This record gives sequence, C-alpha cells and structure tokens, in this order.
Amino acid sequence: MTVTDGVVSLRPFHREEAPRLAELANNEKIAVNLRDGFPHPYTLADAEKFIEIALSKPDQIFAIEFEGEYVGNIGVHKKSDVYRYGAEIGYFLGEPYWNKGIMQRAVNLVCDYAFRELDIIRIDTGVFEFNPASMSVLEKCGFVKEAVFRKSVVKKGKIWNEVRYARLKEEV
Ligand SMILES: CC(C)(COP(=O)(O)OP(=O)(O)OC[C@H]1O[C@@H](n2cnc3c(N)ncnc32)[C@H](O)[C@@H]1OP(=O)(O)O)[C@@H](O)C(=O)NCCC(=O)NCCS
Repeated sequence: MTVTDGVVSLRPFHREEAPRLAELANNEKIAVNLRDGFPHPYTLADAEKFIEIALSKPDQIFAIEFEGEYVGNIGVHKKSDVYRYGAEIGYFLGEPYWNKGIMQRAVNLVCDYAFRELDIIRIDTGVFEFNPASMSVLEKCGFVKEAVFRKSVVKKGKIWNEVRYARLKEEV
C-alpha cells in the first residue's frame, strides 16, 4: 500500500534500507522522545528486525519517502478489546530532514488512510512533555490535547508528564 500527497509518500519498507534506517535511528535526540522499546544504540540487526516486523504489518507500518529518499518511519497500530475502534500512531524522522514540514504531511496521510481503511474512529498518541516539535505536528494535523498523564513517564533518569492527543474521524 502506498499513499502520497505529491511531496511525501508512505510505502512499504525495502529490505535494503536497513543500513540507512540504522544510521538515521541511531540518534540520542530521537531515542529520547520514544519509548525504551526503541533501541539506543540502534544497530543494523535492530533495523533488520524492525523491517521484518513492518513487512508483516504492511497495513500499519510505513516507510516515509521524501524527494525519492527514505527519511523516517510512521505506524498506525490498531488497538484491541474495547479499544478496537482506535489506533495509536508513532513516528520518527531522521534528523537531517527535521523542520521541513515532512512529518505534518506524513501524519495527515496516515490518518486519512487509517480512517478510510482500518475501520477505526479515533487515533491517539502520547508526547513526552519536553517534545514541543511533536506537539506542534499533532496540533497542525487536527489532534486535540485531551489530557496530561502526570508523572507517567521515566526517561533520562527523571520522571516526566506525558501529553495525550487524539483526532476523531468525525472531526475531520
Ligand atoms: C517530532 C518530529 C517528528 C517532527 O518532524 P518534522 O518533520 O520536523 O515536523 P514538521 O516540520 O512537520 O513540524 C515541526 C514543527 O515543530 C516546530 N518545532 C521544532 N522544534 C521546536 C521546538 N524546539 N520548540 C517548539 N516548536 C518546535 C517547528 O517550528 C514546526 O512547527 P511550524 O511548522 O508551526 O513551524 C521530528 O523532530 C522527530 O522525528 N523527532 C524525534 C522523534 C519523535 O519525537 N517522535 C515523536 C514522538 S511523540
């Protein structure tokens, strides 16, 4: 599955992109904003394992492409049980590509796709309180700040708040 707005595309990973994924993902400034399941340091083996997972869930995990290059990852993960009409998004972009509006485009693309194809009515995520760039992306994409989960996260050896955002299908 590939979707595009003419500038940014979301598409399946290519196995030969593992070295570039490892290179871009092996960055403390990225890892600090993500859950600890995102390895740091990030090795080629981590990248190869991730790409296999992505290829096994081609409807939920995508490579982000900009000007013909692989630049980052985005996923929209369907929930289960009573939360099954919802999904959680997660994303990162390689540092050379920050602040060009790429992630705003990628988030809009993945939301439009997921509301159309995945039988969900809500997409949410949490942002650590020290990540204003990600909050700005979500707000520009129509996400509403719903809550602050106080002192819910441990990162960098300290306790932090997490800001929860959601976008509803009926609102866009
Ligand atoms: C967060 C991230 C995805 C943003 O991607 P991006 O393509 O640079 O985002 P965009 O260019 O679409 O938008 C970035 C916005 O953040 C703003 N921004 C950037 N740094 C900022 C800062 N330190 N303080 C406040 N705003 C900031 C930019 O000005 C821009 O807003 P604008 O368009 O209104 O000017 C990227 O920095 C990243 O991958 N970070 C590491 C991983 C991560 O944080 N993932 C999300 C976890 S919730």
